[in-house]
Amino acid sequence: MANSIQSVRGFGDVLPVDTPVWQFVEDRLRATLERYGYEEIRLPLLEKTELFSRSIGEVTDIVEKEMYTFEDRNGESLSLRPEGTAGCVRAGIQHGLLHNRQPRLWYAGSMFRHERPQKGRYRQFNQVGVEVFGLPGPDIDAEVILLAARMLRDIGLEDIRLELNTLGTPEARAAYREALVAYLRGYEDRLDDDSRRRLATNPLRILDTKDPDTRALLADAPALADWIDDDSRAHFRELCAMLDRAGVSYTVNPQLVRGLDYYGRTVFEWVTDRLGAQGTVCAGGRYDGLVEQIGGRPTPAIGFALGIERLVALLQDAGAAPAAPAPDVYLVVAGEAAGREALIIAEELRDALPGLRVMTHCGGGGFKSQFRRADRAGARFAVILGEEEAARGEVGLKDLRSGGEQRTLPRAELVTTLQELDMGTAPGTTI
Ligand code: HAM
Repeated sequence: MANSIQSVRGFGDVLPVDTPVWQFVEDRLRATLERYGYEEIRLPLLEKTELFSRSIGEVTDIVEKEMYTFEDRNGESLSLRPEGTAGCVRAGIQHGLLHNRQPRLWYAGSMFRHERPQKGRYRQFNQVGVEVFGLPGPDIDAEVILLAARMLRDIGLEDIRLELNTLGTPEARAAYREALVAYLRGYEDRLDDDSRRRLATNPLRILDTKDPDTRALLADAPALADWIDDDSRAHFRELCAMLDRAGVSYTVNPQLVRGLDYYGRTVFEWVTDRLGAQGTVCAGGRYDGLVEQIGGRPTPAIGFALGIERLVALLQDAGAAPAAPAPDVYLVVAGEAAGREALIIAEELRDALPGLRVMTHCGGGGFKSQFRRADRAGARFAVILGEEEAARGEVGLKDLRSGGEQRTLPRAELVTTLQELDMGTAPGTTI
């Protein structure tokens, strides 16, 4: 046997035992987005590298060291998307969606970052994201937060902490950045390595550090909150008032700065302690300068993205993951002719009862092993077709749950009998 080939590190498979919870999450999220009037947009996995360096930021971790970047056969630098916002903005500009309109968009799909894989952190991961364009006021900030809160609620996740902050305008941030750098330069030798590097490149990210000594230094550092401009402050106050009015609980976290450069004003994250170090399940914020930065007209915008792997892990850890739907009917056959006829019966059942889950046996084998497979599939009923029954136009029916007797009935009555048993009328049963 040849050596088997393994998947690429950080690129996972979602196995059949797990796809039901993925489908549950994806279906619920889509339904909630539709209830808010958001429209789906589908975006390519691959973009020009420049799109990401111009938007996410040249000196962010993502662009500096996490992108899957390569030259294609024409020598053009391309990157697998590390997130969805940049591509969504690019598409909005390219197709004129942002002109005189205020689209509210959502997308779902895989993103790629060459991070160190661990629980909750993968190199290919999935997001459902939302982007809204053309609306500058705090009302839309409140709406996207209410939307994200409901998306989490609708998949059964109630107790996740919402943290909010305002970063102010780019000018306010630049002034704060200078003050922070001036302060930290005085303690450069006491900073952790990452923070020392960031001092020159992306000093605001130092506020995110987990290093205890650097954190201690930050306690006396200038606070971003003191540098926020009056308009941004008023915007944030109004947003908080709307959230209070809507009964959304949150904490203001002045240290929350986010790892992408395009944010200004409102930023937010939903965080849980139940996932270890990778506890952020949803994150986003306002990015009023990005559309212009990518070549569009000045257009305010706000959005967020949910990390699907983390939502799935939370449901699984809580034992709340839905199981695979089981077949209602499993067709058990004896002999080749009956086997062929069973395929026809299965099709007739599917035609007559669109809600019915019907599984055919295929592959031969004795009755006993077929019943074992029917059991393993979790089927509710076995429909049995032996050579004699087939010849007489009859079928057997056995309730696999009650363990009752098998009965024989005319094949023509199978549909009505299953209907009387409430099979195929409602969406299938689950195991
Ligand atoms: P982000 O914070 O980089 O923001 O990612 C959003 C969410 O994606 C995270 O909170 C997390 O749940 C999930 N996520 C990120 N990286 C990984 C990973 N390596 N493995 C598993 N899950 C991960 C953005 O991507 C922005 N585009 C969000 C946004 C949209 N802001 C405005 N609009």
